[in-house]
Order: sequence, then structure tokens, then C-alpha cells
Amino acid sequence: MGFGTALNAFMTYLESKKTSQNVRYYTIENNPLPLKLVESLEYPDILNARNEGSIFSLLHTSEWNALTTITPTFELFKISDDIQKLTLDDKVDLVYYDAFGPRVQADLWTERIFSIISAVMKPESILVTYCAKGEVKRILKRLDFVVETLPGPPGKREMIRAKKIK
Ligand SMILES: C[S@@+](CC[C@H](N)C(=O)[O-])C[C@H]1O[C@@H](n2cnc3c(N)ncnc32)[C@H](O)[C@@H]1O
Repeated sequence: MGFGTALNAFMTYLESKKTSQNVRYYTIENNPLPLKLVESLEYPDILNARNEGSIFSLLHTSEWNALTTITPTFELFKISDDIQKLTLDDKVDLVYYDAFGPRVQADLWTERIFSIISAVMKPESILVTYCAKGEVKRILKRLDFVVETLPGPPGKREMIRAKKIK
């Protein structure tokens, strides 16, 4: 959820190379960032992956609403739409829920939105989010997720990992 600068997508690509996993990465975004701005962030340099700069650019320049083979083991499908309208033919194993926080976009942290997301997830699949608010945990539990609170990344005390049980 939220293609943004493609940081999640790029890090998943880098990690999938290390672990030799095949990935089909779906992402939805309703307000794509200009390429110039994204390139100025120099993520490939910051992540010590300067030799992967062309892949980072390709993540951004690939067509929207089409499946693109970025490499033989990494496919990307960027959906240009609002998360409220999300549907997928596939079901996914893992969701990075990376919307802006509840204080900024309260409408993206509701039971309705998490039901839409749950509908595209496989049984036993995982949703992770940097947000660890009690209300978000309660919503996920009501939707039949087993919710764990994990230590967060630098600057965040806690995060949520939730497993869909049905
Ligand atoms: C916190 S940022 C995500 C950053 C991104 N994961 C990255 O790696 O840079 C949230 C993203 O969600 C997008 N967004 C906000 N509301 C949305 C909506 N209703 N539907 C789809 N995307 C949305 C924003 O444009 C923004 O790019």
C-alpha cells in the first residue's frame, strides 16, 4: 500500500536477490511522485546498491496497471488508483501497509479499508505496518488476524505484524 518513492519495492527486490526468491510485487498509489524528486533521494547509493540504480529507475518508469518483468525473478504490477477501490485477481502472501499515519489519513485506518485488504490476502498471509495503535490492533483482531506487537524500526517503539488465519 503506497508505492511512493519505491523504497519498499526496491528493498524487497534487493532482499529477494539475497534470498533467491521469486517475487511478484503489487503496489497501489493514487498520487505518483515526479521521477526527478525520487531520483534526488539517491536511495541506491544510501542502500549501498549503486550498481542496482537502473533497476530502481525501472521500478519508477515501468508502466502503470500492467505486469512488468523487472528481472526474471522480480515482477512488478503498479496500480494507479485509490486503495478504497482495490481488487486483485491474485491473492498475496505479504502486505506492507504503509499509508500515512492515522492522524493524517484517518480514513485509511478503518475496518472497511482493512477488510478490502484482507480480501486480497491468502490464508496464513502476513500484514505488517509501522503503526501500533490499539485501535488498529482491535480492527485486525475483529477481522480474524492474529496480531503481534514487534519492536519498531529506528524512531518507532513498536510495529504490528498480523497473520490472517482464515
Ligand atoms: C507513507 S507513504 C508510502 C511510502 C512508500 N512505501 C515508499 O516506499 O516511499 C504513503 C503513500 O500512500 C499514498 N496514498 C495515500 N493515500 C492513498 C490512497 N487512498 N490510495 C492509494 N495510495 C495512497 C501516498 O501518495 C504515499 O505515496
